[in-house]
Amino acid sequence: MDSDDLSFYDRVGGLAFFERLVSAFYEGVEQDPVLRPMYPEGDLSAARHRLALFLAQYWGGPPLYEQLRGHPRLRMRHVDYVITKKVRNAWLDHMRAALEREAGHLSDQDRREMESYLEMAAAGLRNR
Ligand code: HEM
Repeated sequence: MDSDDLSFYDRVGGLAFFERLVSAFYEGVEQDPVLRPMYPEGDLSAARHRLALFLAQYWGGPPLYEQLRGHPRLRMRHVDYVITKKVRNAWLDHMRAALEREAGHLSDQDRREMESYLEMAAAGLRNR
């Protein structure tokens, strides 16, 4: 079987890849004066787990996010956070830095596909 037959999820490294990506992302969030106050106090491990499961499911992995949290309804789940252009950019900057660190093994096409999805999803959650 060549790599074209694998799902995106398997090709990039399965759940372990999404966990590494999201850990790198939250390391950035933890240091960010704009984003950090929006997240629950104390440790971010539950938030990290939810985002990793969501992304893994989105990219073709098992429906673990849905089992844990139900239908994603991301826009609804973000309405309580004030997401301006500045906030969205901060979120995307940390995600891009995480990809820089953890997604070196992705093909250019997979990398671009992932970046475009994240940009599109973040744009859709801007609510101010
Ligand atoms: C645009 C900037 C964004 C900001 C400021 C933001 C902020 C937040 C915050 C504060 C939470 C609550 C943390 C928690 O307890 O889980 C959260 C949850 C979450 N976010 Fe975002 N987010 C952004 C974009 C995104 C994008 C683009 C995605 C998907 C690609 C996403 C997916 C999620 C998921 C899956 C959860 C957990 C929802 C749940 O099950 O309760 N977020 N986000």
